[in-house]
Amino acid sequence: MIEQAGADALELNIYYIPTDPALTGAEVEQMYLDVVRDVKANISIPLAVKVGPFFSSFANMAMRLAKAGADGLVIFNRFYQPDFDLERLEVVPNLTLSNSHELRLPLRWVSILYGKVPVDFAITRGVHTYEDVLKGVMAGASVTMMASELLRNGVQRIGLIVQEVARWLEEHEYQSLMQARGSMSQQNVAEPAAFERANYMKVLQSWKFDPTGVLLR
Ligand SMILES: Cc1cc2nc3c(=O)[nH]c(=O)nc-3n(C[C@H](O)[C@H](O)[C@H](O)COP(=O)(O)O)c2cc1C
Repeated sequence: MIEQAGADALELNIYYIPTDPALTGAEVEQMYLDVVRDVKANISIPLAVKVGPFFSSFANMAMRLAKAGADGLVIFNRFYQPDFDLERLEVVPNLTLSNSHELRLPLRWVSILYGKVPVDFAITRGVHTYEDVLKGVMAGASVTMMASELLRNGVQRIGLIVQEVARWLEEHEYQSLMQARGSMSQQNVAEPAAFERANYMKVLQSWKFDPTGVLLR
């Protein structure tokens, strides 16, 4: 029905929390693939699939989603996390909006998968500034999406961010945004292992502490 109404593409958000201890990871993965295959068999417009990060081997899952028919992967679903109200002993359904720190997870995974899995990538999660947009594209995304930023600061942020992206590209002598796409993907960076190593040693060596052991900012 969506296709007949004139949509150019479909984004399928698969949001499933497997709470049954008897259900294996392989069975959960198969459910995702079956849904993608079923939907793809019944439409002729491109299909993007939005998923969360909680798979044992995300790279393998991404490849199988592509083989099942996903033309694009939207990375990552941000599952709403319930909190507790200690006084009322209730589970509270409040929603915390994201910040730019949360971009790191999709940034890493798009960088790793770009050029390896034959789909277009969209990043959703933690995109708030023009720098975030540029980072996402350099990781390999064709699209960066914003939700929290627009809820907090209004849709006029889009125009400003587009202008700032254009200014940055011009200052750095890029001909187009797409010229930057994938330039920081794992296959294109000087140190591909940086996406995989924990690298705490390097981080800690750069830190300074005051005499009481508190980290200096
Ligand atoms: C109030 C609210 C409603 C949302 N509703 C949906 C939804 O219906 N479908 C969906 O795929 N994602 C939904 N999302 C998730 C966003 O599309 C987005 O993936 C997520 O918020 C992470 O991006 P952000 O860091 O820019 O907020 C919703 C997010 C918020 C904050």
